[in-house]
Amino acid sequence: MAYSEKVIDHYENPRNVGAFDKNDPSVATGMVGAPACGDVMKLQLKVDEQGVIEDAKFKTYGCGSAIASSSLVTEWVKGKTLDEAAAIKNTEIAEELALPPVKIHCSILAEDAIKAAIADYNSKHDK
Ligand code: FES
Ligand code: FES
Repeated sequence: MAYSEKVIDHYENPRNVGAFDKNDPSVATGMVGAPACGDVMKLQLKVDEQGVIEDAKFKTYGCGSAIASSSLVTEWVKGKTLDEAAAIKNTEIAEELALPPVKIHCSILAEDAIKAAIADYNSKHDK
């Protein structure tokens, strides 16, 4: 299958790979899996006291599109509030990366990872 140039760029030079200490109260962790393929994505957000995402990291065990989708969202969420990050749609990710229809679920994984991380943040902070 042919990957778009943007997918290849993120796959070959993934941004923000790694992990934060999940016990740090300012860190939110979202871990999601794709039933379609068994791939797993972990997204972590570092959130400041104003609720702004100051940094993000990911680890993805999956296809090139899943890696590119998670790499892209780590760039997109930085500087956003949690509410703004929650509004990121998988369709925007798929469009940016020119994902073909069979790879749409990979972008859904990234959207779900953002939502899971925000839910984790809210549960840690009694929201
Ligand atoms: Fe792995 Fe789509 S096949 S996420
Ligand atoms: Fe399943 Fe990409 S995440 S194929």
